[in-house]
Amino acid sequence: MLVLCLIPATRYNLIDVPLLRWLRGSRHVDALSLHLAGEFVENNLGTEQDPDGSVTVRMIAQQYLFIPHCILIPAGVPVHLRITSADAVHSLTFDGTDYKVKVLPGTISEAQLQFARPGEYKMPCREFCGAGHYAMRSELKVVPREQFPALQPEERGSCAAH
Ligand code: CUA
Repeated sequence: MLVLCLIPATRYNLIDVPLLRWLRGSRHVDALSLHLAGEFVENNLGTEQDPDGSVTVRMIAQQYLFIPHCILIPAGVPVHLRITSADAVHSLTFDGTDYKVKVLPGTISEAQLQFARPGEYKMPCREFCGAGHYAMRSELKVVPREQFPALQPEERGSCAAH
């Protein structure tokens, strides 16, 4: 029994690190190469329409902003949020709601959201993450459901045109 306990203790890089990675499964992501390759490259961020009518939103948190700085989603459909951090621990919140998503480097945080009606929400960071913490925020714009499919893919990560 003692031997079984000692092996993981002395072979951290050989056993524990791959084991932890396996336990985390697909939620593991390399914080240092987020912008270069994989799910969180810039043109993959923002809102994506899923075949079943729901949407997936991908974001990055980094000192001291959320990317994209504005998210556009349709009202009344399930929203699958996937977000990771490029540096510190952050917390994405939606003013006026109970939604709160803790964001950690190296891991993809997932949350299921839904907004019944069109509207606008501030999305401030609520985890102290450094000097620029109090200015760290994004914005959520909820548009009527029938209006959303008409948007071009390049409008997914921006509210500028609306
Ligand atoms: Cu990010 Cu506080």
